Amino acid sequence: MDDRILRELELLPVARLYGLSSPPARPQAPGVATAEAVAPAASATSRSVEIPRRVAPPAAEAARRAPAPPTAAPPDGVDTMDWDALRAAVRDCRRCALCEQRKQAVFGVGSESGPWLFVGEGPGADEDALGEPFVGQAGKLLDSMLAAAKLARGREVYIANVVKCRPPGNRVPAPEEAAACAAWLDRQIDLIGPRIIVALGKTAAVRLTGAESSLASLRGRAHAYRGIPLVVTYHPAYLLRNLPDKAKAWEDLLFARRTFGAPTA
Ligand code: URA
Repeated sequence: MDDRILRELELLPVARLYGLSSPPARPQAPGVATAEAVAPAASATSRSVEIPRRVAPPAAEAARRAPAPPTAAPPDGVDTMDWDALRAAVRDCRRCALCEQRKQAVFGVGSESGPWLFVGEGPGADEDALGEPFVGQAGKLLDSMLAAAKLARGREVYIANVVKCRPPGNRVPAPEEAAACAAWLDRQIDLIGPRIIVALGKTAAVRLTGAESSLASLRGRAHAYRGIPLVVTYHPAYLLRNLPDKAKAWEDLLFARRTFGAPTA
């Protein structure tokens, strides 16, 4: 990342703290916490942490699991639901087979008036148990990245997922499952009215851009979802397995900040 841009955004010290920028020229004084101590630095020599990879369901297996093809028709009345009604509807949702093995639906968390919305893929085991998105290791990295960008979950950030129920075995949600859940996320977006959306990982990127393209090709430019600026970046769980790409994710966050600050037409 160009340190000049970071300096302009006054984020250089925090970026270094979280291992997201090039290290300072001078060594840290003894006893001072280093970037490595807080989070592993994004260097080619970084060791990757063992985070289980989500696997896409074979089409036949996904079809076998689904009791009936999930409908993408929106649930009755969703367009007029307030937060309480929406929360209750998601809690009781049985629109796809994911409801069968969930402990609970994971609705979303944070500032209900945005202005930042981060969208992940779907709950994992920790989220299924606790009912909050991004509370496991990937969530800790997301929180670090938010802090580095001077954002915080709950203050100006809302965090939601493409699917509200945990895909068994942490597999990637099937397209029909994402479609069945789409109306819930769309209503969350209506109610929040975010100024910017950040898609975390390919599932969210494909769902929100509508493009079946690689994540790499969707990064680095502003898309729009229902007229709202949308920026695509890596999923934190991917970054835990591919530490050198943290620097690219940091570039994406800075791009999102610049997009957020850009005047709207
Ligand atoms: N991964 C996601 O995409 N969402 C979560 O809530 C947790 C992990």
